[in-house]
Amino acid sequence: MADLIDGKAFAAKIRAEVKEDSDKLISQKQVDPCLAVVLVGENPASKVYVGQKTKMAAECNIKTKDFKLEASTDQETLLKLIDELNNDSSVHGILVQLPLPKQIDERKVIDAIVVEKDVDGFHAINAGRLSIGGDMLKKAFIPCTPLGSLLLLKDHVEDLKGKSAVVIGRSNIVGKPMSQLLIEESCTVTVVHSKTKEIEKVCSQADIIVAAIGRAEMIDSKWLKDGAVVIDVGINRISIKKEDGSEGSKIVGDVDFESASEKASKITPVPGGVGPMTIAC
Ligand code: GUN
Repeated sequence: MADLIDGKAFAAKIRAEVKEDSDKLISQKQVDPCLAVVLVGENPASKVYVGQKTKMAAECNIKTKDFKLEASTDQETLLKLIDELNNDSSVHGILVQLPLPKQIDERKVIDAIVVEKDVDGFHAINAGRLSIGGDMLKKAFIPCTPLGSLLLLKDHVEDLKGKSAVVIGRSNIVGKPMSQLLIEESCTVTVVHSKTKEIEKVCSQADIIVAAIGRAEMIDSKWLKDGAVVIDVGINRISIKKEDGSEGSKIVGDVDFESASEKASKITPVPGGVGPMTIAC
């Protein structure tokens, strides 16, 4: 049976460190750290994330300015808000929750944020710095989900150098930055996705699996090498029948936890694994 990788406990430690840093900024530099959080529309998952980020920021003595815009908001209005926040010296970070409604070009909005306030690390310049690595990486904001996943791996794998890692999913938010972080750690990295041939076979050769495909419980023990370390980035809501026969729902990962636990040496649970690390990072 696999050991559990406890993201909840690790995230609490990170938040305590962040609070210390922000207390120092307040008392020693008279800077009141402030994050602008922009949510456009009614995406239920986005609302939950934004709510958690705002709550945790308060816990760390980081102020937030919340901007909740209607789903019908046009691109120009959003770009105007970004421009105001870029020029507002009381705002130090800008987080625009993704996805954005269809009428808005996400890339245009992300790249309109000044690089120094792009705390998500999604701006082309921050993405470029991560891709170049080395000293450039020190200047980059790193996307929070891959960063949280890497911190968990570093805490649970003695030496990442030379390990074979398979990242499942190629998104700009998780898959691509995750693969770049693992390359920087000298892992041998393969990125697989919906068009990959013999995807199970490729995964079953990996020492480390990072699953970020957004498909509930898709990865089971057949996908895994004995002793693999499994990081499950997925957060999927599925319908279940409750004990009393009524309909309910629960949150599961991209990994079939029970089956995968039979082969993995270490695994993140969902919830309580990568999720809290994302918020803390
Ligand atoms: N949507 C899903 N993940 C993220 C994230 O890390 N940041 C933002 N801004 N939006 C997201």
